[in-house]
Formats: sequence, C-alpha cells, structure tokens
Amino acid sequence: MTEELREHVAEELLRSRARSTALTDAVDEHDLVRQHSKLMSPLVWDLAHIGNQEELWLVRDVGGREPVRSDIDEYYDAFKYGRSVRPELPLLNPKEARQYVGDVRGKVFDVLEKVPLQGRRLVENGFAFGMIVQHEQQHDETMLATHQLRTGEPVLHAPAPPRGKLVPATEAFIPGGPFEMGTSDEPWALDNERPAHTVHVDAFFIDTTPVTNAEFAEFVLAGGYDDRRLWTEAGWEHRTTAKLVAPRFWQREGNSFTRTAFGVTEPIVPDEPVVHVCFHEAQAYATWVGKRLPTEPEWEKAARFDPETGRTRRYPWGDGEPTELHANLGQRHLRPAPVGAYPAGVSASGVHQLIGDVWEWTSSDFHGYPGFEAFPYREYSEVFFGPDYKVLRGGSFGTDKSAIRATFRNWDYPIRRQIFAGFRCARDA
Ligand SMILES: [Fe+2]
Repeated sequence: MTEELREHVAEELLRSRARSTALTDAVDEHDLVRQHSKLMSPLVWDLAHIGNQEELWLVRDVGGREPVRSDIDEYYDAFKYGRSVRPELPLLNPKEARQYVGDVRGKVFDVLEKVPLQGRRLVENGFAFGMIVQHEQQHDETMLATHQLRTGEPVLHAPAPPRGKLVPATEAFIPGGPFEMGTSDEPWALDNERPAHTVHVDAFFIDTTPVTNAEFAEFVLAGGYDDRRLWTEAGWEHRTTAKLVAPRFWQREGNSFTRTAFGVTEPIVPDEPVVHVCFHEAQAYATWVGKRLPTEPEWEKAARFDPETGRTRRYPWGDGEPTELHANLGQRHLRPAPVGAYPAGVSASGVHQLIGDVWEWTSSDFHGYPGFEAFPYREYSEVFFGPDYKVLRGGSFGTDKSAIRATFRNWDYPIRRQIFAGFRCARDA
C-alpha cells in the first residue's frame, strides 16, 4: 500500500510540474515578469510561490530538512503582499525561479522516499503531498486565467472538446429529504470539505445543463443589463460602476457577439456554457428566467445523491476517478465543452456536466460545516469564512482532476469574472 501510495504521489507531482512548466515555457521572459492584470500575479511569482509552499510543507515540515531558501519566504507569502503589489517585490527572475522549484522538487523526491507516510496526521495517506499537488494545480489554473488576460499572439493550443449531444430534459427533479454532504474519508479532501454531515434539502428542480452562450446572449439582447428589477442592490451598484454590458471577453457587433479566448477571437459558440460571468450577472439572469441560483447543498445533492439507494456518491457518475469520458478537466481543451458532451458523466438524477467545463456560482456564502476544524492551517480556508465570498462548485476545463471532487469547494468575491465561472439555475418544486 505504502509503495503504491508513494508511486501515486510521485506521478501526481510530475504531472503538476509538467503543467506548470508548459504554462511558463509558453511565453518569453518579458511575459513571465510583467503583470497582465492587477487581479493577477506575474507568472514568475506563481511559479516560485509553488516552489516556496512545497518547500515550507514538504522539505521543512514533513522532511525536517534545512531550508533551501529561507530569505525569500516573505515575498511569496500570499497573505503578506497582495497580487497588485507583487511585481514591485524583489522576486526571483525566471531563471532563478526555475532553478529554485527544481532544487525544492529534488529534495521532495528524497523526502518522499524516506519519510514514513503514517504516525502523523499531516502525512497520513500522503495528505501533505496531496495538498501540495492540489496547490500547484490550483496555481496552474490561476496561471491559465492569467494567460486568458494576456494580450498578444496565441501561445496555448489544444484540441477541440467533444461535440454536444441533445439533453432531452431541461430540468431534473431532486426529491426533498436528508442526504450526506461533505466527506470524512476522502484522503486528500481539504479541511473545508469536512466532515460528512446530514443536510435536509427541500424538493427542487435544477437545470440539467449549465446556461449556454446562446441563452445568455438572449438575456443581453433583451436588455437584461439595463433592467434594474433583475439585479440585487449590490449587483446593480456593481453593474453600474463596472459598466457591465456582457460577459467578460465578449464583444458586441449589432445583435451578435464574438469572444476572445487565449488570443483567438471568434463568434460565440451557441451551445457552449457561458463563462467569465460574475455572481451578480448569474443572479440577474436567473431572475430573468424566473428561477434562482442553486444553494450549495442543492448543488451537491444534485451531484452526489442517488435517489434509488439514498446513498451519496463520490462523483456524479459514481465512485470512480474522472476520465476523459466523464468530464472536461485539466486544460485538455481550452474551452468549456458544448452541453451534452459528456453523457457518461451524468448524475443519478440526470444532471450533466456538474464536474468540469465551468465553475458554477451558488447562492451560498462560504462557511465551515458543522464540526469544522482548520487543518493544517487557518489560512487555508477559515480566514475566508463569512458573507464576503460566494461558493463555486464543480471545477472548470482548467481544473485538474486531482484538485476537484464533488465535495470540493471554491470561493470568490461575487464581482470576479476572470475565473472560469458560469452557472446553472434552479427553482423550488
Ligand atoms: Fe498559493
């Protein structure tokens, strides 16, 4: 078991590093050090930060080894300096950053070979290694979002996603009653996904697919952005000050739209899930169609609950790991797949594409579950609990399979649009 686990950890470390390398080798030195948006760090910051977190947890803490570079810790501490000021810090240059992450990784493989993967909660089932793999993959998704904000010739390329297929029902009925939410036994689940607990959810309907570009374009053309009644007070204020008129990266030409993604401009694809909308835009659209956003427990029940057995599944399709037949994950394609493209990934209730394609806004604030315990550090999630953040679920085409589960919880400000976020609607039964 331990050997198998070590091999699995090693494979995941290599896979995440291959992705970080591809994302940073794709651009020149100038593009690595410059800030493509105030919302993002320079790519070279993400790279060295990945190495620094890996050093802190795996080299120093788990391995008990001497620091590789203790002089740079503060510049890569995400809590000390916000994204907007990071370009002014005395950061490692691209060559130094590559050298640094390589040196750290060399030591980590040595630690992985020698350290017992038991006896301490931090290393049980390889948790600390899994946390670092997920951390790197999360920053890879962040770097992918930076690529989306970068201007210039396209540098990333990927094959087209599978074709969409007809999904006969537009809504699925989810029966009322209790279900088990969260997890206590998923080995690499993070603190905010724990513990498993019973939640009662009233019966509801949820859309079988995410809202598409064609559907969202109708909302724009119908004047949805100018109809005060559709927006909450905070939403209207934001729409007004930020001058929102359409999803981010859309351009309007008469009554049609193009969008720019990773340097390529093309007409919007009608049956592809809409992406780069903020919570407020999602909420206004849902109101326009006479629905609402799902709550977080509703989303998870639609994804995991099997009405036949009453059992909660690990993923919508069952307990097996995601394959490329189940979901659009891992930057395999550089866009969401059209609706219906993953019939093998459907949930027991008949809901499609809950995992992958686009992060889905829920109406819920980010809070700890009953019995929540911060682990291994408060800054992972506890310091973000409260009304400032909305929960997003399911992962996007830019999320790696190691960093998504049907229990996985992401959170962000309701005004954020640079993330790969879309949504689906729900309504009371
Ligand atoms: Fe980080």
